[in-house]
Amino acid sequence: MSRLDSFIRRMTAQRDILNQVAALALLPESGAILELGLGNGRTYSHLREVFPDRRIVAFDRALMAHSSCIPEDNNLVLGEISETARTCIGSDAAMVHADIGSGSDKVDAVTLQWLPSLMADLLATGGIAMSGLPLDTEKLVALPIPESIDSKRYFLYRKI
Ligand SMILES: C[S@@+](CC[C@H](N)C(=O)[O-])C[C@H]1O[C@@H](n2cnc3c(N)ncnc32)[C@H](O)[C@@H]1O
Repeated sequence: MSRLDSFIRRMTAQRDILNQVAALALLPESGAILELGLGNGRTYSHLREVFPDRRIVAFDRALMAHSSCIPEDNNLVLGEISETARTCIGSDAAMVHADIGSGSDKVDAVTLQWLPSLMADLLATGGIAMSGLPLDTEKLVALPIPESIDSKRYFLYRKI
């Protein structure tokens, strides 16, 4: 598969799953959305559209987002997510989305040593985890994603 096709598949999966989460009202009534990996801000932009009333806090190593997708200072956290996101444990997020896969199995294996438990710990009970990497932890139960999306391409969970 070309890198263009792979990119389109990832973006389509994110959009369609976010639309499903919104349409089925899967989020708990309160709590912020945490966007791990702001990047260019495309997903952040969609999150703002489909969840206009939620606080959205974005994390990244450095700010590289399009000028229209830069969060307010108090909703932007820069640094290594494995360290910075820990400061939000206990805030009972309604949803955590992570798009921090690297395309390298070796790098992703290191990320997967800390990401699943961190995402679960950030969430309120009943909160939603969405990720481009699989989250293997007993604290999360898998939810169905739209049939059009390859079940190994993107992952959706609820915290139990
Ligand atoms: C694939 S991009 C995210 C793209 C984003 N969904 C968008 O719509 O533009 C991944 C981002 O996560 C950041 N990132 C990956 N691993 C990280 C880590 N461990 N700590 C902080 N930022 C990280 C990278 O700097 C990059 O900007």
